[in-house]
Amino acid sequence: MTKEAEKQMPKKTVLDFMEMKKKGEKITFLTAYDFPMASFCEKAGMDMVLVGDSAAMVVHGLPGTVPMTMDQMIQHSQIVRRGAPNTFVIGDMPFLSYQVSRESAIENAGRFFKEASVDAIKLEGGRRVVKQIEGIVEGGMSVMGHIGLTPQSSGQLGGFRAQGRTAEAAMELTKDALAIEKAGGFALLVEAVPPEVGKIITDMLRIPVLGIGAGVHTDGQLLIVGDMLGYFEAFTPKFVKKYAELGLTIEKAFRAFSEDVRTGTFPEEKHCYRMLEGEHEKLQALLREAPPQ
Ligand code: KIV
Repeated sequence: MTKEAEKQMPKKTVLDFMEMKKKGEKITFLTAYDFPMASFCEKAGMDMVLVGDSAAMVVHGLPGTVPMTMDQMIQHSQIVRRGAPNTFVIGDMPFLSYQVSRESAIENAGRFFKEASVDAIKLEGGRRVVKQIEGIVEGGMSVMGHIGLTPQSSGQLGGFRAQGRTAEAAMELTKDALAIEKAGGFALLVEAVPPEVGKIITDMLRIPVLGIGAGVHTDGQLLIVGDMLGYFEAFTPKFVKKYAELGLTIEKAFRAFSEDVRTGTFPEEKHCYRMLEGEHEKLQALLREAPPQ
């Protein structure tokens, strides 16, 4: 497909993603938290964009996702929607915005749709969030499930570690996956599991299964923008492929700027505005005749 044709593609819908799964077409998926990254995703023809609560770490400099609030996530989602008006945008429900009750889950999901015009929301957990998923879906909103390594409950999991590595643990994940599909989820994200487990879950479900660190067999792949562009430096999970080293590029540019400023080599003539013809001489004369007091 040409770049021009890609730009004019209509925004994908949940039905398109089902169709892509049936045809074996892979779904492309990145996180974004701000206007520039969202618009680059749209220009590049990304199928889906997740406004992840990983913003906590990538943008806010926090050690985990738990502190993120609904207001912060809504604001990031509004900004991403502005940057990617023609892309399927998913808002990530922050910690305690859906765990407490089915009612608060519906209300908070509704805020993403009403205030940020998202196309879907994502929440973490399997069987234990079925009643929330059912409620949100009954409310007319599309829900993506998220199982495997679920960062909001990483404390319970013993940290940011791979999941489903034993047969028993993998069996539990398959039960969670099926429960999410049955509850009405339109898609499922599986994080940090062995490829065999990613494949079993993908083959088992009719809805699209997206993977982040779940091997090559899932219906699509997600990466976190700060990881894949190489500007999130706190840690790099095993599943990340770096497509750029923006962190190094940015630091190099900042150092070069400081050097230019300190040595007076920036700004150059071409960066400067010119006074109108004859106005400089006139100004000099005025300054001589009536110096400002
Ligand atoms: O917040 C996020 O970006 C996520 C990914 C880690 C899957 O939920």
